[in-house]
Amino acid sequence: MAASDYNKEPSRASDFTINQTTPFNAEPPVAILREHFVTANDKFYVRNHAPVPLIDEASYKLSVEGLIARHCKFSIWELKHSFPQHTVMATLMCAGNRRTEMSDIKAVRGVGWGCAAISNAVWKGPRLRDVLFMAGIEKLESLWDQLHVDFEGIDICKDKRGYGSSIPLHKALEKRGDVILAVEMNGSELPRDHGYPVRVIVPGYIGARSVKWLKTITIQMHESTNYYQKKDYKLFLPEVDWDTVDELWDKSPAIQELNVQAAITQPRDNEMIPKGSSYTVKGYALSGGGRKITRVDISFDGGKSWKVANMFTASQNLPKMDTKWSWEFWECSVKFMPSPCQIICRAWDEGSNTMPENIHQIWNLRGVMNNSWVRVNVVSDEAKL
Ligand code: MTE
Repeated sequence: MAASDYNKEPSRASDFTINQTTPFNAEPPVAILREHFVTANDKFYVRNHAPVPLIDEASYKLSVEGLIARHCKFSIWELKHSFPQHTVMATLMCAGNRRTEMSDIKAVRGVGWGCAAISNAVWKGPRLRDVLFMAGIEKLESLWDQLHVDFEGIDICKDKRGYGSSIPLHKALEKRGDVILAVEMNGSELPRDHGYPVRVIVPGYIGARSVKWLKTITIQMHESTNYYQKKDYKLFLPEVDWDTVDELWDKSPAIQELNVQAAITQPRDNEMIPKGSSYTVKGYALSGGGRKITRVDISFDGGKSWKVANMFTASQNLPKMDTKWSWEFWECSVKFMPSPCQIICRAWDEGSNTMPENIHQIWNLRGVMNNSWVRVNVVSDEAKL
């Protein structure tokens, strides 16, 4: 059903910053990313842990198994035609986004990412809850609070197992039904890098839970035992290092929801600001669990005073779609900027969560969930722009 090696990788955009070649891990130029609210398929960041599998759609079957009453296998045709197709706009972000800033403080283990391990797309496919009801999930109703949905991909990764992850069943069964088995991305079939022929989309959660090249869904009483749930994507104190972490993996919860995050996409660090009467700083912001961004603050004086940025998701040329799970674009104009200047950005969400000032306090050995204040240093050749 699937063959995989690095000689059969798909073609990719030439303007990506490649953070790792095998497996392929790359992010688009951040300024281009910020130009379009919906990211084009060939500009969407790619986070792979193994070669991209070559999958024959004709023989492909998605298996639903475990404690569920009716074990089922679905072809792609059945996933497309036996269930209502649901469309969700959702931003995916890797938990390792902005990891390089963390490793600048002290080395961390993991692929180095700038601030473009994030992208937004319109996904389409059957709702996971509809598939689970077809397989008889209602018969397990008394256990719903305790059950997990385990996903395994076809790509063989650590421990010679397919890449895997799980989410609590309650997330999969949410009434909105926005956790989907995506067979389309921005109106086309899924590109190979993004999970062809089917992937899970878990909006509001770290990208790691949106398993690509999906092979099996298992309903079980425990979370996934896969390496990427049990031994990765976890948070530890800054003082925990590789010689002390072993006993902590099992005691620490797997990260699920994203935290509140932002980036400045214009200007870039160390950029020379052109002369002029005003300058517009631009960026994105996003939070987890469907919590909307309520405010983005920008400082031009090291955090002594702040300006509130304008957010304008609604004014983008969007198809009429719910943006609950999407990032926000913001911008903030200034007439005068000191030179040199450190521009700082922090976002707030509707749970009143904000971003920590100090990266040292959240440093962790895997370099995940870096949402410290964003700092960009610029100079202009005139103190007054
Ligand atoms: N699913 C499989 N099967 N294999 C993977 O390597 N990477 C995960 C997730 N799903 C991964 C996967 C991670 S860590 C992220 S951030 C997202 O996919 C990235 O999705 P993308 O490559 O479509 O941007």
